[in-house]
Amino acid sequence: MTQTTSLPPFPDSLEDWWWNQATLKWPDYSEDKLLNAIRREIVEQSDRFNKTRSFDPNSYGSRDLSILSYGNFFFSRTWQAMAFALSEAYFLREWKAPRKGPLRILDLGSGSGASGLASLFLLRQWGLKNPMSLEAWDYSGKSLATMKNLHQSCMGLWPDSKVFTTRKDLSNDLPPPNARKFDLILLGFALNEIHQETESRSRTEWLKQVLHHLKPGGFLIMMDPAGTDSCMNLQEDSHVLTQGDSRINLHAPYFNGLPCPFFVQKSKYYSHEVRSIYPTRTVQKINSPLHLETREVKFGFSILSKAEVPALPLGPGRCRLVSPVRKRKGTISFVGIGSDGKEYRYELQRRDLKKDETKRILFLQRGDVLEIQGIVPGKDERQVRLPSPQAISLLFAPRIDVG
Ligand SMILES: C[S@@+](CC[C@H](N)C(=O)[O-])C[C@H]1O[C@@H](n2cnc3c(N)ncnc32)[C@H](O)[C@@H]1O
Repeated sequence: MTQTTSLPPFPDSLEDWWWNQATLKWPDYSEDKLLNAIRREIVEQSDRFNKTRSFDPNSYGSRDLSILSYGNFFFSRTWQAMAFALSEAYFLREWKAPRKGPLRILDLGSGSGASGLASLFLLRQWGLKNPMSLEAWDYSGKSLATMKNLHQSCMGLWPDSKVFTTRKDLSNDLPPPNARKFDLILLGFALNEIHQETESRSRTEWLKQVLHHLKPGGFLIMMDPAGTDSCMNLQEDSHVLTQGDSRINLHAPYFNGLPCPFFVQKSKYYSHEVRSIYPTRTVQKINSPLHLETREVKFGFSILSKAEVPALPLGPGRCRLVSPVRKRKGTISFVGIGSDGKEYRYELQRRDLKKDETKRILFLQRGDVLEIQGIVPGKDERQVRLPSPQAISLLFAPRIDVG
């Protein structure tokens, strides 16, 4: 196996900034009292995200406690999720920044800026020199003000960048694009809220308006929480958009512009990533009595662009891992979607494996993109026997590097 793509950890200075904001807001509270107030709010927000799924401008963007609880708990999580999706655009899908001049990003449903600010930070970390501007649109004026404040306070993380905020209800039509279109448009965990009850047809009409704001080489990165409805909608919308306009191409999660087979076959499975993340110390403190999942983020995503999709040879030789890696008595196996958009089951005999080889295969995560060499065609073309662990190389396996 070859190298993973290592991503910088969530910056300590951001963790400190969020906690300071909370202590400045309630200077008379003891740490315990503040943690408990945040915990109560997190339980409510977590239920809203995972159970009731009903959102309006007052859901969590209008009260200080809601914004500061989101910032101290969920912000680092969606930041890390966007790091995975953006790194895929950058390292695997050949998104290119403009050669010169400013790089322009639009963050729709930005909230306090986890997705947009993560992008500014990462693009600088990866050595991009362009001046950067981030436009953030959201219906929560308080979240937007917090984002501006955070951007200004931690300028060292994203030098030579500007943030412009606009308060807007995005469930309405978008304004027509002006001459200055965007290199990246982000919809980080926002599409499912903005269009919580809309039919596919109105969602895709709205997404067409979003795509008009994209430069010819620009990428639209959409991420939504893992769940049958939100993930199926995401893949259905992406497919419908590419079918309706030959200039729009689907770059991810699969290959050669092909749609999600789970959506096409109306399968009980749905496309989503399951990635390891690192909870900050503040997240761990808040979470200690709550026992929420903080070491994993699960999300569905899709990338659309007018740029050409790079062509890959069709077949099981390249795949995206879409299942857990299963260790059984005699075998290790996993399911992958090949570069021809078909589902394959890959299997390796365990008897010849050394301990560290087994460990390296179990270290694979859902969403990793693999290249498999030396495939021997068998009776069932959807079952792929791997000759050895060395047959697997990593084309894209992002991991957060906590040192
Ligand atoms: C789960 S948060 C995600 C925030 C941010 N993108 C992130 O990655 O952390 C969803 C955001 O969508 C915004 N939102 C939901 N419905 C909206 C609407 N109709 N118009 C504008 N913003 C909306 C909310 O205010 C919230 O900031």
